[in-house]
Amino acid sequence: MEYIVLKGQNRLAGEVNINGAKNAAVAIIPAALLVNDICVIDNLPNVEDIYCLIDMLTRLGAKCEFRDRHCLVIDSRGLTFQPATYESVMKIRASYYLLGMMLGRFKKAEVALPGGCNFGTRPIDQHIKGFEALGAKVTIEHGMVKAVADELVGTNIYMDVVSVGATINIMLAAVYAKGVTVIENAAKEPHIVDTANFLNKLGAKIKGAGTDVIKVTGVEKLSGGEYTIIPDQIEAGTYMIAAAVTHGDVIVKNIIPKHMDSLSAKLQEMNCQIEEGDDYIRVTAGHNLVGVNLKTMSYPGFPTDLQPQMSALLSTCNGDTSVITETVWDNRFQYVNELKRLGCNITVEGRVAVIEGASCLTGAEVKATDLRAGAALIIAGLASSGETKISNVKYIDRGYEDVENKLKSLGANIRRIEE
Ligand code: EPZ
Repeated sequence: MEYIVLKGQNRLAGEVNINGAKNAAVAIIPAALLVNDICVIDNLPNVEDIYCLIDMLTRLGAKCEFRDRHCLVIDSRGLTFQPATYESVMKIRASYYLLGMMLGRFKKAEVALPGGCNFGTRPIDQHIKGFEALGAKVTIEHGMVKAVADELVGTNIYMDVVSVGATINIMLAAVYAKGVTVIENAAKEPHIVDTANFLNKLGAKIKGAGTDVIKVTGVEKLSGGEYTIIPDQIEAGTYMIAAAVTHGDVIVKNIIPKHMDSLSAKLQEMNCQIEEGDDYIRVTAGHNLVGVNLKTMSYPGFPTDLQPQMSALLSTCNGDTSVITETVWDNRFQYVNELKRLGCNITVEGRVAVIEGASCLTGAEVKATDLRAGAALIIAGLASSGETKISNVKYIDRGYEDVENKLKSLGANIRRIEE
């Protein structure tokens, strides 16, 4: 079993490069299968979720080959219709994008229901609502979501909840639909814009991505092409928080600073200094950090995927009380029990966590309960006295490339061990 072991309280300083966005990549890779051609996707993060997805694509008959560590060539000319089984869906939940892709390409889809996860139920009713509005008949039999359509016809779809997955999935299904599909109350996350840009590069006609009304005019054919994925907003945010928690001075490079606005504003409110360049943000923090309140929201609000890391940071604001309200997921505080093992003083009631900042956190053995929970444990460990040993590292590897080497290069005392 692998562990990340870190000895905390080193001040982080220097520069760190951010990889491509995992949540854009897991949408763009299935989107590439809409084309009966070759796509080259660059700036892919080298993380476990990508390998799981490539494995699924290969089973469907696509040929995937890495040109280099971050550049994947996908040849989907040999793609055949095949169900995506529960086994593969459990490995990576974003495999629900295969539904939209299969429906778009084959006019039928069969993918296992994603089920629940560590931070709440993960319904897909809005995905289904969209597919049905386009003319598909959707049934759920023996745990499989099955969709079939004679033809898909564009229409107006008003989303009841703002959902990243449903917005992208409907875009995928609508690319070849007849006429115009209008997605209202669409999610606006950067990876939605990235997926739309990718599809447009292949010949799709998608307008409005990044606003809450997206218009997809159906086309008859897409062609292969090359595309470079945007930088990972959440990885960037995690290193910005790591800089703050160690009272450090870190330049987070290769990013789109605009994507970081909600976090930059919160860190400034906490007394961090933020300097923005065209493609970097420098975070400098002293010992005068203060607690703040925050609410997670869909983009451009504060991202839920940085909420656990912020809990860890706010736990170090000695003498201050902070309140975090989680509005996106119904149960995203499960990691709190692990943070408590490091001395964090957090009380959770429903979707609200009250954090009392402590003078010092103390290292302990802890377990990552999901990807961002794992990141939060690293953040807390960086601030703790003594040694923190994190198990379930597989979760962290799902979304962070080379995390211990990046932190080591900034001055952290961190290593991976196998026992
Ligand atoms: C995406 O998940 C991300 N995953 C998540 O990141 C992220 O936490 C989430 O968006 C919110 O930003 C990927 O992009 C692969 P949603 P997704 O559909 O698309 C409810 C990470 O750590 N909902 O926007 O599954 C749902 O229950 C991961 O990288 C419905 O009610 O999230 C939730 O409360 C974890 N019905 C809210 O909407 C639906 O049909 C937002 O979910 C769909 C969603």
